[in-house]
Amino acid sequence: MKFSLPLFPEQASTVAGQVDALFYFLTAVSAVFSLLIAGLIIYFAVKYRRRSPDEVGVPIAGSHGLEALWIVIPFAISMVMFVWGAGVYFTIYRVPDNAMEIQVVGKQWMWKFQHLEGQREINELHVPVGRAVKLVMASQDVIHSFFVPAFRVKADVIPGTYRTIWFEATKPGTYHLFCAEYCGTQHSGMIGRVIVMEPAQYQAWLSGGAGSGVEGSPVAAGQRLFEDLACHTCHRLDQQGIGPVLAGLFGKQVQLQNGQVVTADENYIRESILNPMAKIVASFQPVMPSYQGRVSEEQLLQLITYIRSLTTQQPQTTKVTPPQGGPGAPGLPGEPQGGTTNSPPPPARQPSVGEMEAPS
Ligand code: CUA
Repeated sequence: MKFSLPLFPEQASTVAGQVDALFYFLTAVSAVFSLLIAGLIIYFAVKYRRRSPDEVGVPIAGSHGLEALWIVIPFAISMVMFVWGAGVYFTIYRVPDNAMEIQVVGKQWMWKFQHLEGQREINELHVPVGRAVKLVMASQDVIHSFFVPAFRVKADVIPGTYRTIWFEATKPGTYHLFCAEYCGTQHSGMIGRVIVMEPAQYQAWLSGGAGSGVEGSPVAAGQRLFEDLACHTCHRLDQQGIGPVLAGLFGKQVQLQNGQVVTADENYIRESILNPMAKIVASFQPVMPSYQGRVSEEQLLQLITYIRSLTTQQPQTTKVTPPQGGPGAPGLPGEPQGGTTNSPPPPARQPSVGEMEAPS
């Protein structure tokens, strides 16, 4: 840190310096113009004051040169602000592809976190230093706002949709986490800490403590739910059932009955579970019941993580791939064996942790 005002929180993420630089620039421009205008008002008031009671002011016709100047200069300055601000905005809102994901559920009045490796936390978030972290955030009740001042990240968490932000912490330490949106009587208590650890320490933390291990992972929990809710009876994993095949779906374009094409992201899958009639996939019947009220926000995230983990060998299309040889058939020659969900046996195997992050 070049200079530190006690007014400012520590800079502990990759974007903190950029956000601060922009903020200093905006403050400096405002200060310069405030001083200039206030100074000129005082100077002119003194210089051109009326010196005798019968003095009459000289008429002024105006000056095109002066007008051009005060149009061009503020325009240039505001364009600098716009381009610079847009640049920082895109840096903050465009999640790097290699970011590790953590799921966040805000509720009155706590922050719940789930790591893909299975660890769960409340009001505490452990992350490794020097690694981009993507937060997929949902709210169980009202609007909350996830705010870590030291990282310069803040985003509203809105009921009924997912909000994604990311950060990369640059130094180990413990940082404040706040809810920055008034959300009820104990809003001020909806606080926590983000603990940034060295990668090795983080790995050690991940493998210790309650909730760790594959059993507690969102993928495993999602798979159990998928079976408990009998989703698998219609969404057959390796061949066409009543519902679309979900393997390889995530991130792909989906053709709808009304001709629209949508991307199968978190919000699309969420909507399809809660309000299945909203978007009907082409060549399927609108027969799916709604699961509104039957699954919690955390369970929704688990189901989505599970669906995302389902990969296929033909990731080009989401349109139903014809069954490959059928269940129990041996893999084709030259086909990778045992590493994909399309391989027999039909009951889905547990995808490994590494696979969950692999873009399919
Ligand atoms: Cu949650 Cu304020």
